[in-house]
This record gives sequence, structure tokens and C-alpha cells, in this order.
Amino acid sequence: MRVLFITSNKGKFKEAKRYLSPLGVELIRGRVDYPEIQADDLEEVVRFGLEWLRDKIDTPFFIDDSGLFVEAFGGFPGVYSAYVFKRLGNKGLLKLMEGVDYRDAYFKSVIGYYDGEIHIFRGIVKGSIGYEKRGEGGFGFDPIFIPHGFSRTFAQMTIEEKNKISHRGRALKAFSNWLKENLQNE
Ligand code: IMP
Repeated sequence: MRVLFITSNKGKFKEAKRYLSPLGVELIRGRVDYPEIQADDLEEVVRFGLEWLRDKIDTPFFIDDSGLFVEAFGGFPGVYSAYVFKRLGNKGLLKLMEGVDYRDAYFKSVIGYYDGEIHIFRGIVKGSIGYEKRGEGGFGFDPIFIPHGFSRTFAQMTIEEKNKISHRGRALKAFSNWLKENLQNE
């Protein structure tokens, strides 16, 4: 089956394609800019995005909104992750964390699929913020995020390794399980 992923983020698309292709899902990338409202949680942002997009797209599609939540900062940058990454980058976030010993953080991803109704899938990965950038892979905050149980950052992993444990990989797992159960007769 074919599924449309509306995203301007190449990294997200690559990860989703790598995850879904072996399951027989042909992923198509759609580039439609949609408003990302300021809200307290990712799910609200996703719901608004789906409602805005649904009249403009005539096939089922999904979007992904994600963010990095640093515990010592009360979850910041969280829903503001894209803006903070653009303005400060990894270097800026590391600078903000100078002198901070409590470095726990988590990534969260919310996938919203629209097929006439809204379906929401979530994934979280816990980890910590390193003291320097490491690795060339991935995108965004990957070079400074070390998932719990590993010594490497996400940027030092292959897409497959990251997908097995990441927030997006987990949300994609829930999404693909749902697709299998609900669309097997189509
Ligand atoms: P948005 O989902 O488009 O609002 O963007 C979220 C921002 O969070 C991205 O620009 C990245 O900086 C960051 N982000 C989200 N997911 C990941 C990831 O898997 N790795 C690294 N950074 C991420």
C-alpha cells in the first residue's frame, strides 16, 4: 500500500521510509507547509496540522511532530524544538547546559494519520544530553543525545539502529501495527 508523509524534514522521511519499506508500505513524501501552532503539547500541534491539511489532500496521509525535552529545563525546548534548533543548534543547547549535571532528557514523537478520521500514535525514548557533539549521522539534536543503555549518540548509529529504539521508531511501530490490523483486507 502507498502512504503519504507530509514533511519538510528529510531526516524524518528517511527514517520513516527505512522503517516502513520492509513492511510493504510504499512511502511517498509530500511537501505542503502547514501551520505549527504554539501549544503545550505535541498532540495539539499534530491535531491542528491534520485539521488544516485534511481539506487540501485527497488521499490518506500522516504528519510527525517531535521534540527534545530536557528534564533540568522543565521539558524545554519540547514543542519549541524546531525553533530552538534553528536559532541555537546543538552548540547553543550545550552552552545552555554548561554547569548542569542533571542531563536526563527524552525525545517524543507524535504521528497523526488522517483517513477521514484522526489516528494518533506516540513514541518516547529516554536518554541524556552529552557534553559534546559526536557522530555524523541523523539530524537535529542527534549528535548530543545518548539513549539510555548506550554510550553512542543517535548520530553515531545507523538508521536501523536508531529506528529500533527511537521515539519515531516506536511511534512508527504503533502506526504500522495499526495499519496491518486495520487495512489488511484492502
Ligand atoms: P518538528 O517536529 O518539525 O516541530 O521539529 C522538531 C525538531 O526537534 C526538529 O527540528 C529537530 O531539531 C528535533 N528533532 C525531532 N526529532 C528528532 C530526532 O529524531 N533527532 C534529532 N532531533 C530531532
